[in-house]
Amino acid sequence: MYITDDIRYIGVNDHQVDLFEGQYVVPNGIAYNSYVILDEKIAVMDTVDQNFTQPWFDNLAAVLGERRPDYLIVQHMEPDHAANVDKFLSAYPDATVVASAKAFSMMKGFFGTDYAERRMVVGEGDTLSLGRHSLTFVTAPMVHWPEVIVTYDSCDKVLFSADGFGKFGALDVEEPWEDEARRYYIGIVGKYGPQVQALLKKAAALDIRKICPLHGPVLTENLGHYIRLYDLWSSYTPEDQGVVIAYTSVYGHTKVAAEMLADELRKRGVPSVTIHDLARCDMAKAVEDAFRYDKLVLATTTYNADIFPFMRTYLDKLTERAFQNRTVAFIENGSWAPTANKVMKEKFANSKDLTFCKNDVTILSALNDTSVAQIMALAEELAESYAPVKVQADFMDPGALYSIGYGLYVVTSNDGTKDNGLIVNTVTQLTDKPNRVAVTINKLNYSCDIIAKTGMLNVSTLSQDAPFKVFEHFGFQSGRNVDKFNGYTGVQRSNNGLLFLDKYANSYISCKVIQRIDLQTHMMFICDVTQCVKLSDTETMTYSYYHKNVKPQPDADKKGFVCKICGYVYEGAELPEDIVCPLCKHGAADFEPL
Ligand code: FEO
Repeated sequence: MYITDDIRYIGVNDHQVDLFEGQYVVPNGIAYNSYVILDEKIAVMDTVDQNFTQPWFDNLAAVLGERRPDYLIVQHMEPDHAANVDKFLSAYPDATVVASAKAFSMMKGFFGTDYAERRMVVGEGDTLSLGRHSLTFVTAPMVHWPEVIVTYDSCDKVLFSADGFGKFGALDVEEPWEDEARRYYIGIVGKYGPQVQALLKKAAALDIRKICPLHGPVLTENLGHYIRLYDLWSSYTPEDQGVVIAYTSVYGHTKVAAEMLADELRKRGVPSVTIHDLARCDMAKAVEDAFRYDKLVLATTTYNADIFPFMRTYLDKLTERAFQNRTVAFIENGSWAPTANKVMKEKFANSKDLTFCKNDVTILSALNDTSVAQIMALAEELAESYAPVKVQADFMDPGALYSIGYGLYVVTSNDGTKDNGLIVNTVTQLTDKPNRVAVTINKLNYSCDIIAKTGMLNVSTLSQDAPFKVFEHFGFQSGRNVDKFNGYTGVQRSNNGLLFLDKYANSYISCKVIQRIDLQTHMMFICDVTQCVKLSDTETMTYSYYHKNVKPQPDADKKGFVCKICGYVYEGAELPEDIVCPLCKHGAADFEPL
């Protein structure tokens, strides 16, 4: 199978395995992937499981033809991939084995030799040229063993990702990638989220077009989707909203409670409700679901003054995989001394960022009015966060308008004798063919008069490095009274003769007014863009960034009112109803008490 013109697949499908890695059921089998890169030199990427030695050698021979391989690159020493290293090196005595130093230590353990006479030890950033193909090795410790490296081929832009981005399921079975990839990831690599995050950061610096993992299909399209899921899983962020109920039940009473809670959650519109009987289900699937969704309910019986064995195993599997950042609820059953909730909570003593529900449920042998009421209360609590936001349709909340995102700009103009500039947050691109923008200015501002008369303006887009003094300079004084550019540095003239800021701005746009729209208090100028120039890559200063990071916080000891728009402070016990902010010209509605 061709991966690219030079990269071929020589892996195998395993439908005989009963338990993968000795514990995971794989109803659709598993693939052990291996690849060959054909160039002036030939590299083989990993081997396969010991039960498929001959089919793998056959696949390799079919790709090689008359040629002989130069390198065996061993990315991961777990025997599902490395079982045939020794046999390969016997079959091809001129080949060199390439791996990390730790991998060679493991080879000594597995094969009794570390191949000191015919090896190449590689570490972070080391490269190997095959001709056109240059391979770069990236260390990926604990994804999923400590010796792991992944390999980037910059020629075909292929990442050989070892166990990363793998999944259960043989390649001759069609099935969605996500479920079996998630069960594989959470089960096998779930404990090592920080290490996967570190690898994702390194991968982000590479131009990757294809991912070739050691299990599962080669990923060739929509790579952002798979990388996003890996980012969610490895950062322990819930992927979906919903409640997972995991229970054990001896005589069925706890099961009835779990199913009653599931029904109540569904009635209350919880987006997804999943239920697992831990004694009978695939435990790896129950673990996967606990990591997939944002809420988990644990229901079990008190047993030998502890909890039922399957629940104890389940909690061990969660905590050893660093289960965190979720909401957890507890249901216990006990005929004479129920203690399961206490025991279960203690199991999470070292877990991070778990929120326990307020409503515990205690069943004394069988459900009764009290425990049913507790289940209803728990259902309410769990469902609450999924309920739609209550909207008061007839309520005018000015805060909603502050949620609109704005940038901040200095608009410059010239009245014929002097340059002027002011701060606005009202610049919007209207069309791109032709390039046209709207700039809206309060009529009380001097700039409004100038632009109405001259029909010309420049917009300098402020960047996040602009200090508060820029806002004071252009926003807190009027061009009617001062010459804002007298002695001001950090400006140049554009083709239209107007000034633009070349400091604290990341771009400027020169505009010619083609239409005016009178908005009573403000004038909207519709403009053709006559020039537009990018000055830097610094992020644009947004209105919310300004408020959070630039605008000084009001002095708590002062009595008065602060303008929410520009920060002007009116000192006094009462705010005049007809106040107009002397700086930004906004009215009383935009002031708030200090
Ligand atoms: Fe597929 Fe960690 O071996």
